[in-house]
Amino acid sequence: MSTQAYAISEYPNTDEIYVRLKALVKQRVRPIRRDRMQDFLNYFETKCAKSKALTDEAKLYIPGGVQHNLAFNHPFPLAIEKACDAYLWDVDGNRYIDFLQAGGPTVLGSNYAPVREKVLELLQDCGPVTGLFHEYELKLAKLISHYMPSIEMFRMLGSGTESVMAAIRAARAFTHKKKVIKVGGAYHGWSDQMVYGLHIPGTGRREATGIPRGSSAHTQEVFPNDLDALRRLLMFNRVRGGTAAVIVEPVGPESGTRPVPYDYNQKVRELCDEFGALLIFDEVVTGFRLGLGGAQGYFNVKPDLTIFGKCVTGGYPMAGGVGGRRDVIMRFAAGIGGTGERAYIGGTLSANPLSCVAGYYALLEMERTNAPVIAGRAGDRLTKGLQQIIEKYRLPFVAFNQGSICHLETSGVMLLDMKNPIKVLREMKPRKHMLEEMGAAYTAQGIITLAGSRMYTSLADTDDVIDEALNRFDYVLASVEGVK
Ligand SMILES: Cc1ncc(COP(=O)(O)O)c(C=O)c1O
Repeated sequence: MSTQAYAISEYPNTDEIYVRLKALVKQRVRPIRRDRMQDFLNYFETKCAKSKALTDEAKLYIPGGVQHNLAFNHPFPLAIEKACDAYLWDVDGNRYIDFLQAGGPTVLGSNYAPVREKVLELLQDCGPVTGLFHEYELKLAKLISHYMPSIEMFRMLGSGTESVMAAIRAARAFTHKKKVIKVGGAYHGWSDQMVYGLHIPGTGRREATGIPRGSSAHTQEVFPNDLDALRRLLMFNRVRGGTAAVIVEPVGPESGTRPVPYDYNQKVRELCDEFGALLIFDEVVTGFRLGLGGAQGYFNVKPDLTIFGKCVTGGYPMAGGVGGRRDVIMRFAAGIGGTGERAYIGGTLSANPLSCVAGYYALLEMERTNAPVIAGRAGDRLTKGLQQIIEKYRLPFVAFNQGSICHLETSGVMLLDMKNPIKVLREMKPRKHMLEEMGAAYTAQGIITLAGSRMYTSLADTDDVIDEALNRFDYVLASVEGVK
């Protein structure tokens, strides 16, 4: 077992955070002053002309002009040309501090040279893919199993979405039960069965355009942190054929935007054991970002199955996988020792040599450099600094972090829920728009965030980088309506 330290230096006081978040959601929005917002928008018009031209043209060939939801930023997407460590440069030559870090996977920082060199070496020798077995598949699977003892076996796939699909299939094949319970607001990719209760708890099929009812007929959601509701649903399911699995993001929905109390995962584990359901941890973000032992190591809770995503290759393409109990994972066996009851999965480019070599060396480098812990300390410094700015300007905003996963809630849109549907209907749009404006303002000040409310820190975030970022955040937050 690995003796890695973890990225979270002190577990956040979730009761206190929810008091502040609830107060934020109760208040009217506090956007940026109109005159200052115009200055921020002028930045895009005057300094980002090449990005605008490229992404305008892209709208003719690419739906919405961007291929990825994360790139869909107000007032228009930036075209990025160069990435290195803590920084990004756009095609107009503007430099940004990169707190998107590709949506989380690059704990070592962007385009980390020692991993890139190993990838280039492999490309010279065998190219990105052959369709046959490569030694790096074994090396990576062994390394993951070394860091996370619950991973007795590992099946590599192409994305987090696919890996969730596969895990649910294996859970159903193993338990012979159908129901899968997720937590409202959590994201587990975009498969038919998981586009359910996205972003806002209680919204069920609200986003299920193009998905037949039957596809999510066995998906259920419970409100975040509501263990009584989970118990009731498990009891309800027991008399109707049972629950195959409960799937959670172990720090809470949307990478901990709605954080869980420290003992939540242990209690979910106990409920799963009581009702014979498998526990699936979706560690697409937390797997290796919280530490090489993942959230399961940090919380000391052993899931039956674990989902991996982008972190498993340090950000190189085709990144995902399912690991866990041998008796469950063996349902996937296509080769030696199959169980005879195969849960069918595939993927021509899954576990290609390029992804595996990148993942193997990214993990080794993360261990050598202690990257998760250093990135976590950068997250602490960023969060503390943001809290001081919020205090200084007497803003209702809320900053908190789980190590290198940092949250800055300003509009409260991510905290709405269907316990109050009228509020959701009335306030979702203006709160979402305010968040888009905050994201644009940070960008105009040279900071890239995830959708204006989340920041991932990395090994590359020195104290100087964080302090520079805090100066820029200070300028934006000083521009909020009502700040004197
Ligand atoms: C917790 C979680 N699960 C699953 C996914 C889906 O992974 P992918 O985008 O690789 O399909 C994501 C993506 O951000 C995620 O954050």
